[in-house]
Amino acid sequence: MQKSIDQIYHEALKDIEGADTLESVEAHSITYLGRKGLVTQFLRSVATLPADERPLAGKRANEVKQALDAAVLAATKRCELAAEKADEGIDVTLPGRTVKQGTLHPLTRVTLEICDIFTHLGFQIVEGPEIETDYYNFEALNIPKNHPARDMQDTFYISENTVLRTHTSPTQPRVMEKQDPPVRIIAPGKVYRCDSDLTHTPMFHQVEGLLVDEHISFGDLKGILTTFIHKIFDEETSLRFRPSFFPFTEPSAEVDIRCVICRGKGCRVCSQTGWLEVLGAGMVHPAVFENIGYDTQKYTGFAFGMGVERITMLKYGVDDIRKYFENDLRFLRQF
Ligand code: DAH
Repeated sequence: MQKSIDQIYHEALKDIEGADTLESVEAHSITYLGRKGLVTQFLRSVATLPADERPLAGKRANEVKQALDAAVLAATKRCELAAEKADEGIDVTLPGRTVKQGTLHPLTRVTLEICDIFTHLGFQIVEGPEIETDYYNFEALNIPKNHPARDMQDTFYISENTVLRTHTSPTQPRVMEKQDPPVRIIAPGKVYRCDSDLTHTPMFHQVEGLLVDEHISFGDLKGILTTFIHKIFDEETSLRFRPSFFPFTEPSAEVDIRCVICRGKGCRVCSQTGWLEVLGAGMVHPAVFENIGYDTQKYTGFAFGMGVERITMLKYGVDDIRKYFENDLRFLRQF
């Protein structure tokens, strides 16, 4: 008995879709769709059917032929791809490998943010050497040899007159020596002090600022630093300027901000005072101008220096400074 066209169709589809090599797809294609194939034979036999059955049988047989042609094409593609991948030894069913993206170190991120804020205020970014002469690190900044102010900073000496810079302030005389006012610079970078405990590491980061021009006042310093603090923290963060001493500024101030953790109520981070020290600043001491040859009658200026670790700790609420230097990816990926 001749098989019905639907029987042929189901068997053919099962064979073609089950084939896993190009050769077997080809063989099935010949069995069903070849010149003497079952579907071809069925199509030919339509002419011998009674006239009233012919249109329906012919239509169905053509549909089956088209569907099987498409199935052969799909099976061929599938087998070709599998053969290609097998050559490369790749399992096409495995999920793809994702590329892990790095992140910026939190200290880099905050340094860039600080630079960005000051760039928008018209400051230029400069850099100075980490191995510095005694002259730029101390003398030019009005800190003579044997001056008690040298004890404020535990210095790593490389030779009698060469040190690892203890602060970024030596960029001030370096820039002013080369450039007449107006000067408007910030200088980010690494600094070194022989000091190591919970809140100190022998290497840390500072950003120095210097602005010199005619008629620069303490009010300008306050304005610039207030704008900076509002941008790096938020507009609600208030500041206070406490009288202090630095040999290279007069008057000098230490700048505190309202504790960003407790908002002034008093907590462990601010030692119950409600305030946090973030900056040293002041009006450039005339002795510094004299050292580099600026006219002290004509020019005044202000300078400031801040610790990047300190700002970063307050911004992200991480109060153990050592975490920034352990290179633990679980910590670093959070930023
Ligand atoms: N160099 C000082 C330090 O490391 C910080 C500092 C204070 C920088 C006052 C300044 C300044 O430019 O005006 O402790």
